[in-house]
Amino acid sequence: MKIQLMNVQRQHEEYAKEYEEAALSVLRSGRYIGGPEVDAFEKEFAEYQGAKYGISCGNGTDAIILALRALGIGKGDEVITVAWTFFATAESIAAVGAVPVFVDVDPVTYCMDPKLAEAAITRKTKALLPVNFYGNCADLEKIQVIAQKYNLKIIADCAQSTGSRYKGERKKTLGDVSCFSFFPTKNLGASGDGGMILTDDEHIAQVCKALKIHGAGKNGLYSLKYQYELEKKNFPSNIPVGETKYYNYLIGYNSRLDAIQAAILRKKLRHIETFINRRRDNAQFYNEALKNTTYITPMEDKDTYHSYYIYALKHPKANIIKERLNHAGIDCGTYYPIPLHLQGAFKELGYKEGDLPVTEELAKTTFAIPIFPELETEEREYISNMLMSIERNL
Ligand SMILES: Cc1ncc(COP(=O)(O)O)c(C=O)c1O
Repeated sequence: MKIQLMNVQRQHEEYAKEYEEAALSVLRSGRYIGGPEVDAFEKEFAEYQGAKYGISCGNGTDAIILALRALGIGKGDEVITVAWTFFATAESIAAVGAVPVFVDVDPVTYCMDPKLAEAAITRKTKALLPVNFYGNCADLEKIQVIAQKYNLKIIADCAQSTGSRYKGERKKTLGDVSCFSFFPTKNLGASGDGGMILTDDEHIAQVCKALKIHGAGKNGLYSLKYQYELEKKNFPSNIPVGETKYYNYLIGYNSRLDAIQAAILRKKLRHIETFINRRRDNAQFYNEALKNTTYITPMEDKDTYHSYYIYALKHPKANIIKERLNHAGIDCGTYYPIPLHLQGAFKELGYKEGDLPVTEELAKTTFAIPIFPELETEEREYISNMLMSIERNL
């Protein structure tokens, strides 16, 4: 048997007719950039997650960059985040000229440890950027208390947590600004790249809308005026003012969600709860099968409705186990093998091995196994049997 860690083809096959018709209708419409599919998807996704405004963009990385820029975060500012995440989380902070400050994660939830985040706050700190890692929920209630105490903003990296809930609500997994990815393997995955920013703040929404399209037009003008107001300066009288796309007011980006992707994502959004239920069912199966073994299964707090983008097991002999699983035809891997504070790209920040012990230990002892919604019963049985047999022979 050969089982992929993530298989997006099966998801396409199941609803191929729906997705392909949606894509075809955009191809035939000639509305490739923006248009009704993009507008409708922004509305529907924001509604699903429980936010007022949805601003689509090119991918999840851009979503974080746009969110940071909309909050006015840039050169010299510090943003507290985790190193136990995908590179893009901290890359985005560095991309706007700010400094990522890494704190360790909670050893049980694998998400930002609020106490450590509070301890890392300095006069330069502008925001906290927790990640709802693997589809679990960061302790946003505690993080919110800290943010309020120090007047900081929360940017939630929700790239892995579409559909997760905290205390029964998807809304409670969000920050002041929340950033989603529709990378094909994600809980809600496009047939290409895609991303979304969610917020309840009309101002942030408008600035994001401006920044994602070259800082132009009506939203750009609004954003620049707002910037002048904040700085209590008079708006310059000698700049060209107009509301079409050729009036540029901010240095922004070109970051748009394709209409074809929006059309496919709208169809997939209708099935998202089925996808998540199946992920959760697979997780429950593994939890049960492995309960009397030395594997540490993911923890799901009573208040959390985990969406299981990734199902990772923890074991001191993870490396040998991964090798043997691969040998048995089961794809598996560590998400992520090199914690961000030790990545070459962040070398100049001066972190060293030993600075974030929980993160570093997780990088050495955890590995993800297939959990995707279309995983078949015989496949998950084969995987759990193989895990048990490997354990017996360690
Ligand atoms: C935690 C996290 N943040 C950010 C991203 C970036 O998303 P994208 O690949 O869509 O740019 C991803 C996914 O790839 C992710 O897993």
